[in-house]
Amino acid sequence: MLVTKLIEKKRDCGEMTAEELEFLIRSLVEGKVEDSQMSAFMMAVCCRGMTERETADLTMAMMHSGDTVDLSDLPGVKVDKHSTGGVGDTTTLVAAPLVAACGGTVAKMSGRGLAHSGGTLDKLESVPGVCVEQPLDTFKDIVRRIGIAVIGQSTDLDPADKKMYQLRDVTGTVKSIPLIASSIMSKKLAAGADAIVLDVKTGNGAFMNTLEESAALARSMVSIGNSLGRRTVAIITDMNRPLGMAIGNGLEMKEAIEVLRGEVPMDDPLVSVCLTLGGRMLMLAGLAEGPEDAKRKLEEALVSGAGYRKLCDMLEALGGDISYVENPEKLVAVKRKVSVCAPNDGYIASFDAKSLGVSSCLLGAGRFRKEDKVDPAVGILMKKRCGESVRKGEPVAELYVNDESRLEEAVSLIESAVNYSEEKPGELPLVYTIIE
Ligand code: URA
Ligand code: CA
Repeated sequence: MLVTKLIEKKRDCGEMTAEELEFLIRSLVEGKVEDSQMSAFMMAVCCRGMTERETADLTMAMMHSGDTVDLSDLPGVKVDKHSTGGVGDTTTLVAAPLVAACGGTVAKMSGRGLAHSGGTLDKLESVPGVCVEQPLDTFKDIVRRIGIAVIGQSTDLDPADKKMYQLRDVTGTVKSIPLIASSIMSKKLAAGADAIVLDVKTGNGAFMNTLEESAALARSMVSIGNSLGRRTVAIITDMNRPLGMAIGNGLEMKEAIEVLRGEVPMDDPLVSVCLTLGGRMLMLAGLAEGPEDAKRKLEEALVSGAGYRKLCDMLEALGGDISYVENPEKLVAVKRKVSVCAPNDGYIASFDAKSLGVSSCLLGAGRFRKEDKVDPAVGILMKKRCGESVRKGEPVAELYVNDESRLEEAVSLIESAVNYSEEKPGELPLVYTIIE
């Protein structure tokens, strides 16, 4: 088989066989495919698409490109969740401990921030001492003792995705349903969970901006998961605003702690999405009879503080200094706070969530290059939600600042990311649909 022939075949709208995709991925990880060739192939996939069967075969080939994790010696149904990437979107830190508190087994491998979207590992590391690189045995041991562990992917998991993602990031080939679906699902499948709840974001802060695109991505991933024997459900949720009020690693950890301590109302958008996601996790694990039963159990775990204790126990097991969890102000100690204020009386009509995410990165909460270090304490705390009224001069967002070198840029990006109206705008849905 010749790699050039495979590229030409996809370019000419051909349908790749499983053998061809396996050959390509194996050759890629063996270093026998040039970056230019892989990039050309992926651009052809972006332009020509893939059938469901091709996408599933590509996913399988990627999943088997490295180690796969066997969790079968852990008790119960191992349930994972994954978000396609959002802004101010702390759902794992809230939903996973609640699920564990209800008897679920959450053995999860998470990622770091990607472009403007945050990543769970960076948020976990905002607690000093936390080490997300753990040997498999330690990972399993924590899950066995506490019911929950969230760590980083081992370096040998899905090496094909690592290579492909680096190339996609710089060749305009990120936005492709078969490439995103295979990237996410190959990692989830390799990480060994029995059941997977996918939080597929839609809107201006998501990688997929329209509901149609997000639904197509969700259907593709659900179909791959189920066809490979993992119970998979996707929930399409809104990302035309930050989900919570906090954007930035320590700020989001602090917000998750506040939610789990019952300091945030149940009808808050972040809490509400976490109850929906956690509910589906419980249902897939066979621990709830339906959405109502699941919601009741999760609310109990929240009100009793059982979810909060799971988060504390897990952070402690990962080496974290729990005094930061008990006193979360310590997570966000910065040199300076700067307010962005409303220019007129009116209402918050909408946000550009992506720009808010980029602004937070400018303050040092995310990376522009792979090797950048993040500052755990910095970011943005939103003071207003979509639809809320504001008075001229009232703060809309508060920036948590250490390094001021790009502060002006960050402020002007936030100013342009908030749209105002004179009339109260209609409410946006939070959860669009659930695809099973
Ligand atoms: N997250 C991933 O892991 N891969 C993608 O392609 C997009 C989001
Ligand atoms: Ca986008």
